[in-house]
Amino acid sequence: MPSEDVSFKVTPRQRAFLSASEREVLFGGAAGGGKSFGQLIDAFLYALRYPKSKQLILRRTYPELEKSLIRVSRTIYPGSVYTYNGSSHVGYFKNGSLIDFGYSASEADVFQYQSAEYDVIRFDELTHFTEFQYVYMLSRLRGVNGYPKQIKSSTNPGGIGHAWVKERFIDPSPPDTPFVGEDGGSRIFLPAKIDDNPFLVRADPEYRERLLALPEEQKRALLFGDWNLLEGRFFREFRYDLHTVDPFPIPAHWRKYRTLDYGLDRLACLWAALDPDGNVWIYREVCRSDLIISDAARAILSAEGAGETVYATLSPPDLFARSQESGRSRALLFAEHGVRLTKTENDRETGWLAVKELLKQEGDRPPRCRIFRTCTELIRCLSSIECDPARPGDVRSEPHRLTHAPDALRGFAIYYARPNPIEERVRGRRWTPDQWEDYENADRAGRDYLLRRYGRPE
Ligand SMILES: Nc1ncnc2c1ncn2[C@@H]1O[C@H](COP(=O)(O)OP(=O)(O)OP(=O)(O)O)[C@@H](O)[C@H]1O
Ligand SMILES: [Mg+2]
Repeated sequence: MPSEDVSFKVTPRQRAFLSASEREVLFGGAAGGGKSFGQLIDAFLYALRYPKSKQLILRRTYPELEKSLIRVSRTIYPGSVYTYNGSSHVGYFKNGSLIDFGYSASEADVFQYQSAEYDVIRFDELTHFTEFQYVYMLSRLRGVNGYPKQIKSSTNPGGIGHAWVKERFIDPSPPDTPFVGEDGGSRIFLPAKIDDNPFLVRADPEYRERLLALPEEQKRALLFGDWNLLEGRFFREFRYDLHTVDPFPIPAHWRKYRTLDYGLDRLACLWAALDPDGNVWIYREVCRSDLIISDAARAILSAEGAGETVYATLSPPDLFARSQESGRSRALLFAEHGVRLTKTENDRETGWLAVKELLKQEGDRPPRCRIFRTCTELIRCLSSIECDPARPGDVRSEPHRLTHAPDALRGFAIYYARPNPIEERVRGRRWTPDQWEDYENADRAGRDYLLRRYGRPE
């Protein structure tokens, strides 16, 4: 060991973590596998080896950080080389290296690191963070000292970040096998099991028994470090093999809809085609950020093929609210740029149930709704979005990025689920276009009123 009065024994898995040189490393798996301890030893060795180096260790909240990493580091880092400043949460080494102990509870908390630079950033319990927080912190990894720059994380499966962490580290490559991520950087996943940590097994032989007594899914995650969890996912019925298909040309006579969710932060527009049996095929998506309405309308229109006729563009009711300043609605602005919107309903729970109805699969029948594999954002969001713990019938609104494409699908599903909306529209010979427009722009109560007033279209 680099210091004369300190020696650590490490487990073989911790050794693998210490020597991993990939740009992004994930030490992940069973609870008690020695992951957090591994982080602290690794941080210590790095600090001594690279004088004046800067590292950041992150947990999601400060109390978690204080109770785990700060406390343990103070007991294992020798006072001869290390002092901890409790008010700034910084650990200083004699050779000028430092470790910042930080937290990032909300997505915006990462901006406190806006002007910081680190050689190594360590996330403990990575699945408690969102992908945005992680990717933002990647940009803080820099400096001119020539030291190796790494982001090293440790975690159990489960948690709000389960899906993106799995996608980033677990799915692309077998364990212990380095691979190159889509950004060109190297990555590796190092699994940890509880039997890999003889220190804990020896000190607390009943720990394993306690994990064995957990409910099945938690047991699989925490005892075996199994990443194939459904727990917490809102659309448990969604299966890639069942609900996605390779693209095929949509026949011209199938009725086509657009359905969108719009905010400046994200436009999500999906195209849905109805086949003659009433099956729904989501055949295109445009999901982009930071588009003003004219650009959003252009992005939508330019995604379409020549001669493609879209029957209606469904949108949530809030786009019809008039702005207090201009007296105009966003729907009007969309219409001015060539995309006329049709209002759907925003009863969230009913809408999600309608989506579930579309995804439901019974017996040998394929599900009613299938999605072209090219709609990667919708597929990713449906397979990752989680339940809101406070409202069981609703999805969790964080990470917010995951909600837009499912919200657009929800708008379509609630429209589709309405009693015979299509027939009403097709058979409506008696209503004038103005009457139809009133109807389209009305909410559910307004529509009931108009149906009574104008009479049902025959
Ligand atoms: N190399 C080691 N030497 C001595 N004790 C160790 C070592 N590695 C781990 N331990 C001890 O084993 C226990 C579990 O380790 P640690 O907290 O690092 O596990 P973990 O994988 O982070 O667990 P969790 O999943 O609960 O966060 C702790 O009490 C820790 O101090
Ligand atoms: Mg830990």
